[in-house]
Amino acid sequence: MLKLGVNIDHVATIREARYRGLAHGEPDPVEAARICEAAGAHGITAHLREDRRHIQDRDVWKLREVVQTRLNLEMANSPEIVAIALKLKPEIVCLVPERRQEVTTEGGLDVVANERALTETRKRMNDAGIEVSLFIAPDAAQIEASARVGSEFIELHTGQFAHEYFEKWGEATDEPAREDARPTESRELQRLIDGAKLAHKLGLQVNAGHGLNFVNLPTLHRVPHLVELNIGHSIVSRAVFVGLERAVREMLQLMSGYAG
Ligand code: PXP
Repeated sequence: MLKLGVNIDHVATIREARYRGLAHGEPDPVEAARICEAAGAHGITAHLREDRRHIQDRDVWKLREVVQTRLNLEMANSPEIVAIALKLKPEIVCLVPERRQEVTTEGGLDVVANERALTETRKRMNDAGIEVSLFIAPDAAQIEASARVGSEFIELHTGQFAHEYFEKWGEATDEPAREDARPTESRELQRLIDGAKLAHKLGLQVNAGHGLNFVNLPTLHRVPHLVELNIGHSIVSRAVFVGLERAVREMLQLMSGYAG
């Protein structure tokens, strides 16, 4: 069964838009995590960015207390955040690149160029009982380097696929695409398929995420070997209209069509 990790950063983004710098405010991402789990999500994902633009330190400690499924901490490989993760002990960390100017994580990690530093962090995390995932583009060189680093998981960056989907096949609405309207030819989809096959062959577990929504997800189902999807923006967007619990249930329902 394909698992869903809900990325709750976007709930904190709404809070920070009004309550930046204050130790309170709504909506509460921790309450969002509770609702997502009650709706059947298999994990909760939160990104503690170095600039703390959405998730705050108090959120991750509260999440650690509250999350019953699996806490996935997205993070840069920076000394400050590594130290927090080692104390926090999420079940898994997903190492991502961070640039201050970006709206959200825009590219994949350059594992090839940072193999040594990533291997070091991977070992420290594993020694603390924390699994490691590397957020990478579906490039053979990055996948092979991830296997050398020894991470248990990779998360394939689906942002380019989502972008191509939108450019070619139109509006990202919250309604699932009709079966007969689904595209067949996609360069980015093919890259994900090839990447997932290579990663699987190398013994890596394969997650995917970024830019996935109710429209492009059925097409992504053609990618084999997927273990978990991390989805945030489209679920929180849909939640504005139908509520978070229903938005999560609808996404899970759509994902139940995944054949593996
Ligand atoms: N996975 C990673 C590594 C991310 O950085 C993000 C964005 O925060 C996501 C998944 C979720 O992306 P989206 O919010 O577009 O669903």
